[in-house]
Amino acid sequence: MDYKEEILKLKKDKNALILAHYYQVPEIQDISDYVGDSLGLSQKAASADADMIVFAGVHFMAETAKMLNPNIPVILPDLEAGCSLAESCPYDDFVKFKNKYPDHIVISYINTTAAIKTVSDVICTSGNAVQIVKSFPEDRKIIFAPDKNLGGYINRITGRDMILWNGTCKVHDLLTTEAIIKMKEENPDAKLIAHPECNAPVLELADYVGSTTGMLNFTRNDNSKKYIVATESGILHQMQLASPEKEFMVVPADETCSCNDCPYMKLNTMEKLYLAIKNEKPEIKLDAQTIEKAVKPINRMLEISRKLNLI
Ligand code: 13P
Ligand code: SF4
Repeated sequence: MDYKEEILKLKKDKNALILAHYYQVPEIQDISDYVGDSLGLSQKAASADADMIVFAGVHFMAETAKMLNPNIPVILPDLEAGCSLAESCPYDDFVKFKNKYPDHIVISYINTTAAIKTVSDVICTSGNAVQIVKSFPEDRKIIFAPDKNLGGYINRITGRDMILWNGTCKVHDLLTTEAIIKMKEENPDAKLIAHPECNAPVLELADYVGSTTGMLNFTRNDNSKKYIVATESGILHQMQLASPEKEFMVVPADETCSCNDCPYMKLNTMEKLYLAIKNEKPEIKLDAQTIEKAVKPINRMLEISRKLNLI
């Protein structure tokens, strides 16, 4: 079957909007209506005017889309497409932790379950995290969850002392300075760009730290010819399309490959995408009460981002 042709036909017939994250395989990115980072995808989901949103990404992203546009069915091709960061922050444990700091507000990274969002004051993404934190007075006491790497990075560059939940992304946290130093020695003319989910020693070596969209824009506007990319392999597709004359190398997850794939993101395939649009399932279901509570901190994030001209 020619999945590309069939998906495009179904998409038109069913008035479906396909949203894809940069970590999807190139074929999925190429047939999507929009490819972006978590912040861009949230905005697109909020303003979507379609009969169905098909989310080529992971569960928390599709949940966010559902909360922002509850009247449109949101389809995720594989419900098992989770996120190690979201999983690192179970609701009951987090509530116990939060209760130890009653005078703190909670800023949560968007990579969390809907349940964690219901007990958060404001959400952030890697694209606006620093500015969201800075939008609160310096003496405001803050719990940051769940990514200790992103939280630590914000603490270092803002001089804040946020209490950090001890979560990490398994895809980014395992990247090592050893692997990067070896690549830098072999490619002395290459710049290192890194996602803030990487650990502190890796971030310290980076010439640029930012969200997937931030990294993509950096490579577009920067005048280097070569980049060592410390994030998931999928982003290379858009980097290469935007700058065909440049060279991009992903920091490998281990010695056995030259890639770094998120096992959750890569659960989505063209076949599953086709079946999802055709069968209009699996659908994201959330009860009205959860949506009402969880969407508040997301809307607060969008409001602050708009005020700061970030979106
Ligand atoms: P971005 O919002 O930067 O695309 O990050 C999402 C993500 O899951 C990174 O691992
Ligand atoms: Fe989650 Fe990490 Fe995969 Fe992003 S790369 S979806 S943070 S497991």
